[in-house]
Amino acid sequence: MAVIRVDIAGAPYDVRVGSGLLTNLAAECGDRLRKRRVPIITDANVHKAWGAAVGTALQQGGYEAVWRILPAGEPTKSWDQLVATTDWLLAEEVERGDAVLALGGGVIGDLTGFAAAILKRGCHFIQLPTTLLAQVDSSVGGKTAINTAAGKNLVGAFHQPALVLADLAMLDTLPLRELQAGYAEVVKYGLLGDAEFFAWCQANGAAMLAGDPALREYAVAYSVAAKARIVAADERETLGLRALLNLGHTFGHALEAQTGFSDRLLHGEGVALGMVLAARFSAARGLLAEADAAAIEDHFTAVGMASTIAALGLNCDGAALVQHMLHDKKMDAGVLPFVLLKGIGEAYLAKDVALTDVMAFLDGELAR
Ligand code: NAD
Ligand code: GLY
Repeated sequence: MAVIRVDIAGAPYDVRVGSGLLTNLAAECGDRLRKRRVPIITDANVHKAWGAAVGTALQQGGYEAVWRILPAGEPTKSWDQLVATTDWLLAEEVERGDAVLALGGGVIGDLTGFAAAILKRGCHFIQLPTTLLAQVDSSVGGKTAINTAAGKNLVGAFHQPALVLADLAMLDTLPLRELQAGYAEVVKYGLLGDAEFFAWCQANGAAMLAGDPALREYAVAYSVAAKARIVAADERETLGLRALLNLGHTFGHALEAQTGFSDRLLHGEGVALGMVLAARFSAARGLLAEADAAAIEDHFTAVGMASTIAALGLNCDGAALVQHMLHDKKMDAGVLPFVLLKGIGEAYLAKDVALTDVMAFLDGELAR
């Protein structure tokens, strides 16, 4: 097992990464569980795959799991589910010193974390991430949110978990497509800060996705450690450091919006395509070698993922995609910062990108 400390001032916590952690859930949580009844929020798919095992693990430690099972999928990150979930936590008489468990992917983690942030002005929560994306990204760092009619993740709070238990065994039931989507966020850490880790991904990514346990532990622990360093240094994304974690996200978000935030394009798939676009745009501006941009694209192809936007069959032009970007929550006083690459492992925040250039670039990509 690997243990990574997220050293946030005033709210440090551990992320434990290993296979089988949840079979020992009660002991892993220790005295963070103060009462016999333990509120645990999950979605229907995760409950079907892991509910019995998690319930038994709590029972063996002398606890009783009290479940709230939400519909699987992005629409669950809604005002309605937030209201119903906080009402349920209040009915369960959860106090500030209690911990609520979030068993699931980013949807469950984001919703539960936000409910915990506002319940009685903040109670504890423990992340039990069950997707690769949640293990390497969303369960760490304390961003919590729901979606509104105006867009994704527009209402939320920074609220750090008390503990994260990333049980690699959870990934065994995850559909391959979801695993690949999460893998985009793993590759991201190499592209933004560590060329050697990108080379590791090139050498080991396919075997990791195929299930090699040692490679999975390395990929998740490496990614968590990379994210932990960044969020410890810039928790609130005010210093231009955490913003680098948005590599690929501005392009990706536009693609997600154009495809209606639907199953046509999962978030991680959008991030993978977005990182290819960010690299190709960087190359077009003379910042990044063409060969490096091609290596990134080739890597996603090599692990079976879409790496060109032509694959999406979009019926739009660059202006339509840029229009989606204008609603991006990263927009700052009329400027949309883009994370670009000066090299593999050398991301930086560019605040001088003209959206007309982005439009022209995207027109070319759509016609590619
Ligand atoms: P998700 O939570 O929707 O999970 C994906 C699918 O996999 C769902 O159908 C779920 O039921 C299923 N599933 C989950 N674990 C499973 C398992 N072990 N076995 C079988 N099926 C399983 O999606 P996600 O990709 O985990 O998260 C996406 C969300 O995360 C988005 O809402 C995004 O905005 C958010 N996000 C948040 C942050 C952050 O920092 N807070 C970072 C990245 C993404
Ligand atoms: N997923 C981006 C962040 O946590 O900042």
